[in-house]
Amino acid sequence: MPPVALCETNITEVKPVARGKVRDIYDLGDNLLIVATDRISAFDWVNPVGIPDKGKILTQMSLFWFDMMRDVVKNHLVSAKLTDFPEPFRSYPDQFEGRSMLVRKCEMFPVEFVVRGYLAGSGWKEYGAKGTVCEIPLPNGLLESSVLPEPIYTPATKATDGHDINISPAEAAHIIGERWNTEASSAAIEVYKRGRDYAATRGIILCDTKFEFGLRGNSLILTDEVLTPDSSRFWPADQYKPGSGQPSYDKQFVRDWLETTSWDKNSPQPPLPDEIVERTRGKYVEAYRQLTGGKEF
Ligand SMILES: Nc1ncnc2c1ncn2[C@@H]1O[C@H](COP(=O)(O)OP(=O)(O)OP(=O)(O)O)[C@@H](O)[C@H]1O
Ligand SMILES: [Mg+2]
Repeated sequence: MPPVALCETNITEVKPVARGKVRDIYDLGDNLLIVATDRISAFDWVNPVGIPDKGKILTQMSLFWFDMMRDVVKNHLVSAKLTDFPEPFRSYPDQFEGRSMLVRKCEMFPVEFVVRGYLAGSGWKEYGAKGTVCEIPLPNGLLESSVLPEPIYTPATKATDGHDINISPAEAAHIIGERWNTEASSAAIEVYKRGRDYAATRGIILCDTKFEFGLRGNSLILTDEVLTPDSSRFWPADQYKPGSGQPSYDKQFVRDWLETTSWDKNSPQPPLPDEIVERTRGKYVEAYRQLTGGKEF
């Protein structure tokens, strides 16, 4: 039997306090249970069809990185073991096992801590227009997908419609305060560098990534997901060629397919056909296997 997607958790005893684009979130008082479903979003809309196992892969990948980054910065993880979850969740392994994290509830910063090591996406656009990214000046003559001299912190905020807006590091400091902006961006760059160096040994270029941080009392905590294909651009190193966009490990099939339909990006998406689901799933599985050396999810 091919694996079936879990697009939504649903139990009789308790309802999630929130459903994000990908995660269902249960409020447990001082903790949260964050469940990565198999939902997939593209162009800020969630497709009605899920990608089987995607949530498990994202969760297992984040756990892999959280462990590797333990000595860089504290993180929100309490446990990802079903047997450590409270009732009623531990009674529903089919819905929660392998894809959920019991985490410390944090006071989240309203800033996305983006780190870029290469020039892509909105960074490439701004560079083309102004020679800067988030107002940070960069050398002349860089190409699309060029490696940057050093990784840079290029924060963003969320507009009310959920769209990301790039801001300068100075604006981020204004929003969250100098101290936390400095601490979080330094931690973000450290984690990025370690992830980049590790990924390079596995034949993957970690182009850029987004982190979320929060506070517990007076401590900075790395939260959310870390270095997954949903929060980062991963490129296969053996195909890397600056001067254009790079093939990516994640949602490219979904985006490309949507572009072939008459979807207006402003209404619910048409359901992904089986073939696109299967190929996209293959990409997530491949990224996970390649990074972790074939661990099961
Ligand atoms: N430790 C934590 N404490 C509080 N909130 C957290 C924590 N870790 C992650 N979150 C929040 O949980 C949500 C995760 O859900 P998901 O990733 O599906 O949402 P999203 O669609 O990316 O984001 P959004 O809520 O911004 O639309 C995010 O809003 C994230 O900021
Ligand atoms: Mg998210």
